[in-house]
Amino acid sequence: MSLILIILLMLTSKHVSASSTDHPQAAGRVLEVEALLKWKKSLSGQAQSLLSSWKRVPGSDKSPCTWTGIHCINGGSVSTINLTSFQLKGTLDDFNFSSFHNLSCLDLQHNSLKGNIPPRISNLSSLAILDLGYNQFTGYIPRDIGTMMKLTVLSFSNNLLLGSIPATVANLSNLSVLNLANNRLSGSIPPELGRLRSLSELRLNLNDLTGEIPASIGDLIGLKVLSLYGNHLSGPLPPEINKLTNLTLFFLSNNSISGLLPEKICHGSILEDFCASNNRFTGTVPKGLKNCTSLTRLRLDRNNLVGNISEDFGVYPNLDYIDLSYNNFHGQVSPNWGKCQLLTSLKISNCHVTGVIPPELGESTALHYLDLSSNKLEGRIPNELGKLKSLFNLTLSFNSLSGKIPPEIGSLPDLSYLDLAANNLSGSIPKQLGHCSKMLSLNLSNNSFHDGIPVEIGNLVSLQVLLDLSRNLLSGEIPWQLGNLVKLEVLVLSHNNFTGFIPSTMDQMQSLRIVDLSYNELEGPIPKSKAFQEAPPEAFKHNKGLCGNRTSLMKCPPPINTTKDRKDLLLLISLSVSGASFFLTILIGIVCILRKEWRKNMRNKLTDSQQGNLFTIWSYDGKLVYEDINGVNEGFNAKYCIGVGGHGSVYKAKLSTGQIVAVKKLHPLQYTTRSEDLKTFESEIQALNKTRHRNIVKLHGFCLHAKQSFLVYEYLERGSLALILDNVEQAKELDWSKRINIVKGIVNALCYMHHDCKPPIIHRDISSSNILLDQKYEARVSDFGTARLVKLDSSNWTELAGTYGYIAPELAYTMKVTEKCDVYSFGVVALEIIMGHHPGELIGCLSTLPTCSEWNPDSTMLLKDLLDKRLQTPDRELAVQVAIIIKLGFRCINADPKFRPTMPQVSQELSISRLDHISSSPCHTFTLGELLNLDLQVEEP
Ligand SMILES: *[C@@H]1O[C@H](CO)[C@@H](O)[C@H](O)[C@H]1NC(C)=O
Ligand SMILES: *[C@@H]1O[C@H](CO)[C@@H](O)[C@H](O)[C@H]1NC(C)=O
Ligand SMILES: *[C@@H]1O[C@H](CO)[C@@H](O)[C@H](O)[C@H]1NC(C)=O
Ligand SMILES: *[C@@H]1O[C@H](CO)[C@@H](O)[C@H](O)[C@H]1NC(C)=O
Ligand SMILES: *[C@@H]1O[C@H](CO)[C@@H](O)[C@H](O)[C@H]1NC(C)=O
Repeated sequence: MSLILIILLMLTSKHVSASSTDHPQAAGRVLEVEALLKWKKSLSGQAQSLLSSWKRVPGSDKSPCTWTGIHCINGGSVSTINLTSFQLKGTLDDFNFSSFHNLSCLDLQHNSLKGNIPPRISNLSSLAILDLGYNQFTGYIPRDIGTMMKLTVLSFSNNLLLGSIPATVANLSNLSVLNLANNRLSGSIPPELGRLRSLSELRLNLNDLTGEIPASIGDLIGLKVLSLYGNHLSGPLPPEINKLTNLTLFFLSNNSISGLLPEKICHGSILEDFCASNNRFTGTVPKGLKNCTSLTRLRLDRNNLVGNISEDFGVYPNLDYIDLSYNNFHGQVSPNWGKCQLLTSLKISNCHVTGVIPPELGESTALHYLDLSSNKLEGRIPNELGKLKSLFNLTLSFNSLSGKIPPEIGSLPDLSYLDLAANNLSGSIPKQLGHCSKMLSLNLSNNSFHDGIPVEIGNLVSLQVLLDLSRNLLSGEIPWQLGNLVKLEVLVLSHNNFTGFIPSTMDQMQSLRIVDLSYNELEGPIPKSKAFQEAPPEAFKHNKGLCGNRTSLMKCPPPINTTKDRKDLLLLISLSVSGASFFLTILIGIVCILRKEWRKNMRNKLTDSQQGNLFTIWSYDGKLVYEDINGVNEGFNAKYCIGVGGHGSVYKAKLSTGQIVAVKKLHPLQYTTRSEDLKTFESEIQALNKTRHRNIVKLHGFCLHAKQSFLVYEYLERGSLALILDNVEQAKELDWSKRINIVKGIVNALCYMHHDCKPPIIHRDISSSNILLDQKYEARVSDFGTARLVKLDSSNWTELAGTYGYIAPELAYTMKVTEKCDVYSFGVVALEIIMGHHPGELIGCLSTLPTCSEWNPDSTMLLKDLLDKRLQTPDRELAVQVAIIIKLGFRCINADPKFRPTMPQVSQELSISRLDHISSSPCHTFTLGELLNLDLQVEEP
């Protein structure tokens, strides 16, 4: 074998020397061909198939000019090698740089190349563009790079390079772009860089650079982009920085820079994005920023800046985002902000701002995010804020605001987060707040609100994160409608004057984790749901007479009326067919024939009568089952409630045939009534009816009615993943191999629905509560397609579809639902399975706000610290699988949907059972950063 190879090589080299005398160009091309093929041979992964055009064509002198990724100059010599995103795996060790005399562009970014950057690379004497970004190169930047005099673009960004920036880079006098961002470079910024007079972009962000910014940076007067954020730079900025008048992007955030901000910033009037947050800047805001109308983004938050903010800022027609929080500013909120027509985020919290909130803010109609918390604002909340129709988060807590809440706040359709806590607000809580149908979190605590809680608050069915009305003067009974808040997780009503019984409707609040009803005048039994039963005694203290089956409370007197037999309470559905599946089969046949006609009738009924809406498709006799279930309506007893999903509570029900099914009762009047939506829903349901996928819960049928709507599913013994992870005993039972298997099951289900169904079916509400487990801990995804049923009017696609904490960030501002939304939710669930709890703060941001764009997880965290502590750290093979799941999870939760993988890609990568370069368990030795930088590629068989 090797003998043949040697002979071949001898033959070819003979050919080279023979022809080189006649055609020097042809000879050069032969060298290039040999060099490329040799390198290709050293690559693994998918390189061989993607570069299949890279082969010798006997008798053709066109090669390699026609090869993938290769371009030639006129004479036929290789001028460009561009293999961006080719999934190349390997090193540059076998790349013979000296074979390419005319190469002007080498672009290998977004691959998985590793090893060192060979110093021989400097043999590419004609090279103008060198981009090795987004690979896994290690080691040092070769000093010899400084001899590549033709370079105009040099990028080694997003690798794992170490050491300092070699001063020789400063010899590259033609350089216009130098990008070394996101490596592990240390040391200081070489002052020699000031010699790079042609430079227009300098990116050194996200490294470990220390020391001061050298004065010579001021010599780079052509700079448009200067990005130094995320280092350990210190000391003051050199005054010479003021010479950089052509800057459009200027990033200094997350360093320890002190002293003044650059006085002459924005002198060229073209500055767009200036971020200096999280440093130690002192002094006032530079005058130059006041009329810097080109600004789109300004972050000065988390410094020690002083001055009067009413005077320091002007009107910015292009401004999108501004954060001045956590400084020592004084003065008032300027009415000018209202003239910034494109402003989406205005954050001035934790300063010393006084005065009133200017009504003019109501003119800034693009605002999504308004945070003026922790200042000294007084006066009323202006009614004009009701004009901010895009407002998503309104945080005015910890001020001295007084007066009533303007009822206009209730007309903000997207308001999801309202925090008015710790002010002097009074009056009654306006019932209009009940119109904020997207509300996730409502905090009115620590004010002087009086009267009762308006019953309309019970309409806020999307409320999930928090309802805090504590420390007010509220009185009266707690309205029973609050029991409708079945998604709510934290309910705090303490320190008020509530009287009477706690409504028994609160029995159904299955999502509650924390309750506090202390310091009121409540009496009677505490609700049966888990949060009440397991709350600490403090949650009930200082009341009039609460009772319950707990040591800290007195025993409740025996109930007066206990006539109902336990058996009666069991929800019994008598099917029109008695048991035998034989009959069932026949009936299904008949129903199928009749269904078309019958459904038409039903749809007519739907449009005919407003009240009796009935729309059913059912494998059995839908009408009868509907009536049966409705007949024993009272049978929807909390006792048989086995869980609460996104859109309703699930009950276990026994049919008269002995079959046990799960019945999901939808929250009343939430579902859509538009006939197009119903039609799409119906076709999806039909697809689901045909589905026999082992990882998807079988849907038997459903029923929609104005008063009562439900879906009937197969019943699964072990209940939901959320409940199991919540329980220490059961979570321990769920060992690593079971967890890995569950992740694979979910992947299979989503692959199937996204890619094997035509048209694809998007789940829209993947969360740990929708993953059920059968006896063998096999995952079954439930509720496919049902999220569509819920309020689909086109403007509010995302209104209720989805569970907070699992929703893809792009949906925060109403965008189109795609498969990638499911991919995001899957990523959250996958991480939750491995971590044992919702990844919460690791996700970092739950919206597309610009603050999130620079978010990076703490990459120094050890993998083992991410794992569910209730299990032993997995070893070897399992550990590798776990690591792969974590890596995939993080890719799936990328804020940008286009960077998330598709489900088949996830499935393919999950099938990898080993990671390169890992001898011991990755969980002990790996940091999160290393894992995320590793490339996973399916090995060729
Ligand atoms: C290389 O190809 C990619 C994709 O075709 C392109 O975006 C990129 O600009 C090319 N690189 C250079 C330096 O031209
Ligand atoms: C600044 O930018 C302008 C417009 O792009 C250009 O004409 C000018 O030469 C630049 N100034 C410097 C010093 O490079
Ligand atoms: C801002 O004001 C200064 C001084 O008044 C002036 O020199 C500069 O051109 C102004 N810039 C803009 C963008 O109007
Ligand atoms: C709303 O804003 C407050 C204050 O900036 C912040 O703490 C909170 O996380 C935000 N909530 C959401 C859901 O964006
Ligand atoms: C609480 O309500 C009761 C009955 O309405 C009233 O007598 C009492 O003064 C109230 N206490 C407070 C602190 O408001």
